[in-house]
Amino acid sequence: MTRLAVVGAGSMGAQIAQQAALHGIDAVLHDLDEDQLRKARASNQGHIARRVEKGRLSEEKAREALERVRETTDLREAAREADFVIEAVFEDLDVKRSIFHDLDELAPAHAVLASNSSTIGISKIADATRRPDRCLNMHFFYPVLVMDLVEVVRGPQTSDETIERGMALAREMGRTPVLLKKEIDGFIVNRILHAATQEAYRLLDADVASFEDIDAAVEKGLNWPMGPFRLGDFSGLDVTYNARLHMYRSTGDERYRPSPQLEAKVKAGKLGRKTGEGWYRYDP
Ligand SMILES: NC(=O)c1ccc[n+]([C@@H]2O[C@H](COP(=O)([O-])OP(=O)(O)OC[C@H]3O[C@@H](n4cnc5c(N)ncnc54)[C@H](O)[C@@H]3O)[C@@H](O)[C@H]2O)c1
Repeated sequence: MTRLAVVGAGSMGAQIAQQAALHGIDAVLHDLDEDQLRKARASNQGHIARRVEKGRLSEEKAREALERVRETTDLREAAREADFVIEAVFEDLDVKRSIFHDLDELAPAHAVLASNSSTIGISKIADATRRPDRCLNMHFFYPVLVMDLVEVVRGPQTSDETIERGMALAREMGRTPVLLKKEIDGFIVNRILHAATQEAYRLLDADVASFEDIDAAVEKGLNWPMGPFRLGDFSGLDVTYNARLHMYRSTGDERYRPSPQLEAKVKAGKLGRKTGEGWYRYDP
């Protein structure tokens, strides 16, 4: 069984560790912030307890899954015995490079180092280590305990063996991996989502239809569980905006320029569910 270390106990890292533990993998969860580790444990306990209440998990399996995640603020301790490390800290290139540099010193030579980044390809991080062949992107989706997909992305220096180990770990964690044979901005899902979202905003900006009707068309006509505006509110309009801005800046492609109406929402602090209002209004 793989011994996993997860670096960063935010929305993604906490659940990546828990998802692995639910499938029998011992996971060490590291964050510099002790409070984040406490919140991660409390949040995972809540998710697991609901599964038990719904009869989807036995009390014994729940206890084992929670016990299998060990928290630490010490990176050395997290990395020391790891076969595989998944980094899930803030989306900041310098922070990620520095963590990969340290992990290269601290983790066993055979360990694979993966980044869960949504926008930073492993080619920008791997050269901070002496093992670029054992580095890759493994892009999980939020919420990790629910979303089945992992995009496994090959960087220019990633070895075949590393790819196989990444694909195998995703399966071991009960997830479905898809392989990107080359690094590309936005990977697969966000590229397709961006294209659809961009078209939705174009229709809105051109006053072809209201955002409610565009959502209804996508939900009823394409059978997507959420239209682009409802989904934007769910994940945070700042996230949608920043992702579009990143794509626009990195490709220079006018198609990715963020919609003025989206920009206005973000500037007004109407970010979706988390602020109580985005395209729709939400009860506190
Ligand atoms: N949130 C999403 O929907 C989502 C989806 C897929 C991928 N991602 C990617 O996952 C990564 C994490 O995103 P998130 O939403 O979980 O972020 P988050 O802000 O919820 O959590 C980041 C965590 O990293 C910790 N951290 C920061 N610097 C650290 C360091 N040097 N050492 C250890 N811990 C450190 C913080 O204390 C925090 O707990 C990002 O790269 C993001 O692109 C996010």
